[in-house]
Amino acid sequence: MTYTVAVSGASGYAGGEILRLLAAHPDIEIRTVTAHSNAGQPLIDHQPHLRSLAHLTLQDTTPEILAGHDIVFLALPHGQSGQYTDALGDVPLVIDAGADHRLTSQDSWDAFYGGDFHEPWAYGVPELLVDGVKQREHLRGASRIAAPGCNASTVSLSLAPGIAAGVIDAGDIVSVLAVGPSGAGKSLKSNLLASEILGSANPYAVGGTHRHIPEIRQALAAASGVSSRSARSTAEGSARSTAGGSAPSTAEGEIRISFTPVLVPMSRGILATSTAPIVEGVSDAQIRDAWQSAYGDEAFVQLLPEGRFPRTADVLGANTALIGLAIDRAANRVTVVTAVDNLVKGTAGAAIQSMNIALGLPEGRALSVNGVAP
Ligand SMILES: NC(=O)c1ccc[n+]([C@@H]2O[C@H](COP(=O)([O-])OP(=O)(O)OC[C@H]3O[C@@H](n4cnc5c(N)ncnc54)[C@H](OP(=O)(O)O)[C@@H]3O)[C@@H](O)[C@H]2O)c1
Repeated sequence: MTYTVAVSGASGYAGGEILRLLAAHPDIEIRTVTAHSNAGQPLIDHQPHLRSLAHLTLQDTTPEILAGHDIVFLALPHGQSGQYTDALGDVPLVIDAGADHRLTSQDSWDAFYGGDFHEPWAYGVPELLVDGVKQREHLRGASRIAAPGCNASTVSLSLAPGIAAGVIDAGDIVSVLAVGPSGAGKSLKSNLLASEILGSANPYAVGGTHRHIPEIRQALAAASGVSSRSARSTAEGSARSTAGGSAPSTAEGEIRISFTPVLVPMSRGILATSTAPIVEGVSDAQIRDAWQSAYGDEAFVQLLPEGRFPRTADVLGANTALIGLAIDRAANRVTVVTAVDNLVKGTAGAAIQSMNIALGLPEGRALSVNGVAP
């Protein structure tokens, strides 16, 4: 079967990457591309690297134009998706790259985004541990999927195994991320001019204000066994047996994370360095086993051998999250270094991997574990 697809936000970075990956997908026919200020123009003028899609013209983003497809991707600025998703009830599968359907807590939405709150959809991070299973179990047959925030999924994948196994303390997480400016989208912003970022490392959203913080706390609480989506009780979650013994579940409010992104002069990429205290009595082998057993069978999330740490260059263009793990006994903390391509594993790759799962297709179809180098 061939699925017809419409991609909105097709002139932007996330929409462009969704199109690049879908163009190589044998089960997909890209029928419609839409935009906003650039509607009416040839797609190729805005995505000159997408040569096989040169025949497509950007249309207006309206519910009428998006309707009538098997699958609709929304890659719009946050706060814009909800108005369309409400009107796309007949579309069998809708995947939102924006934040509008990620959060389960309206309080968190109000505090970090504002505007209308929309219902949460299945979270598009298949490898994430959620209540003792992988999130892919919640994606099978899904009709509405929220692709992740790129920084959020990077940090959540980094730490979920340690929290699920009860070997690290979720109450004192510190994450510092080197991020490329493509994560902020293609629209013109003076702080993203080449003259502002070349030769400089620029911190932003310092001090607990970044919008991905509630998404991380939600994902890590779910990893610990407290999924607000399934409303499971803390007592139920804490019954799991773990490497470190019995791991108490951690409610979202008990996940404390200091999160600092730093803009660096690379177009794509995230290098997230996250640390958290080691739970008393846990051995080095138990720590490493937490990550190894979580990701040992995963194609797209890979734990590097001891002593090895990833570079963003290693995952450029790949749907792969590479993780390096260090056990710092002097500081009594675990250090996790994770590299992803924000536009692939951080957005479009996660969206298409989730689409494949939802449709019952091979999970890795049209996705590559290999990067582009140098
Ligand atoms: N960039 C990343 O690494 C990344 C990672 C994860 C998630 N995301 C999410 O993906 C979404 C898109 O991000 P992006 O980086 O691709 O942004 P972008 O490059 O700025 O692209 C935004 C797209 O949305 C269109 N658009 C703007 N306002 C619109 C409106 N009111 N109605 C309909 N379409 C509108 C734009 O069309 P025109 O060009 O015609 O104006 C453009 O195609 C965001 O929600 C972002 O959070 C991005």
